[in-house]
Amino acid sequence: MLCQRLLTRVLQTRAFSTAPTLSYEYIITETKGEKNNVGFIKLNRFKALNALCSPLMTEVSEALTGFETDPKIGAVVITGSDRAFAAGADIGEMQNMEFPEVYTKQFLTKWSFLKQARKPVIAAVNGFALGGGCEVAMMCDIIYAGEKAFFGQPEINLGVIPGAGGTQRLVRAIGKSKAMEMVLTGEKMSAQDAEKAGLVSKVFPVEEVVGEAIKLGERIAGMSKVAAAMAKECVNAADNLSLDEGERLEKRMFHSLFACKDQKIGMTAFLEKKQPEWTDS
Ligand code: CAA
Repeated sequence: MLCQRLLTRVLQTRAFSTAPTLSYEYIITETKGEKNNVGFIKLNRFKALNALCSPLMTEVSEALTGFETDPKIGAVVITGSDRAFAAGADIGEMQNMEFPEVYTKQFLTKWSFLKQARKPVIAAVNGFALGGGCEVAMMCDIIYAGEKAFFGQPEINLGVIPGAGGTQRLVRAIGKSKAMEMVLTGEKMSAQDAEKAGLVSKVFPVEEVVGEAIKLGERIAGMSKVAAAMAKECVNAADNLSLDEGERLEKRMFHSLFACKDQKIGMTAFLEKKQPEWTDS
């Protein structure tokens, strides 16, 4: 049943890839960019500050799967509202959950679909990115922030801890001392400090951040998709591999690109002072 629904949505996404695509309850999806090659997911649970209830995350997963399987799409932008990217997992949904349920149903585990995406995913963050919202942003590949954005892991205030990778990714992004302070106190970090600390790639005026993220998506979508996917895989592998292992992976990926048409196309175009016409193969 779920597979059928997913397949239907994927086919719909393909069929209407130049216009607002599907009608979901908690998100809006479109394709963006001059070539309609950027997938766009807007979290749309405005009154609840985009609290990430399970159905919302299921919709994001379905939308992302649709964009992953659409050969025209070269990057995906995820955003929220000006007030909140997302204020965390849905506290109302979690309040009365019991251990057997969260453990056996692997609550939050499915969110890892975000880190498994092969196409580059950009988070365009305005307002609050708290708890699961901060974790979702960190699962994306690049974060652009509006100048009034705030990042934080306030779960300690609820008597719990981050459960979707916050304790791990925040340390890797901003170092142990800053991460520990945020996780133990729930203190928020401004967009400006997040940029200085390396959590965020760039900060823009509130009204520009989504447009800039789409422009970035277009630039990435204009690259060879096979090279972009390998670049992403290598950069993300750096979190888990030693330097030697990481270099080995990178070298193998680099070598394997010489089996792809786009390596010949890119290098020939450079030498002939032309623009490359990628085949994504
Ligand atoms: N879950 C459910 N509802 C939420 C929510 C959340 N995470 N965050 C905000 N809301 C709801 C509020 O309950 C409120 O709903 P009502 O209007 O129906 O009362 C609405 O959104 C607006 O929120 P506020 O009135 O609180 O707005 P504010 O401007 O005064 O404060 C805020 C904004 C500082 C973000 C505050 O809402 C807040 O602290 N939210 C909770 C943040 C949080 O603790 N996040 C972590 C959740 S746990 C988690 O994410 C675990 C994990 O690792 C995945």
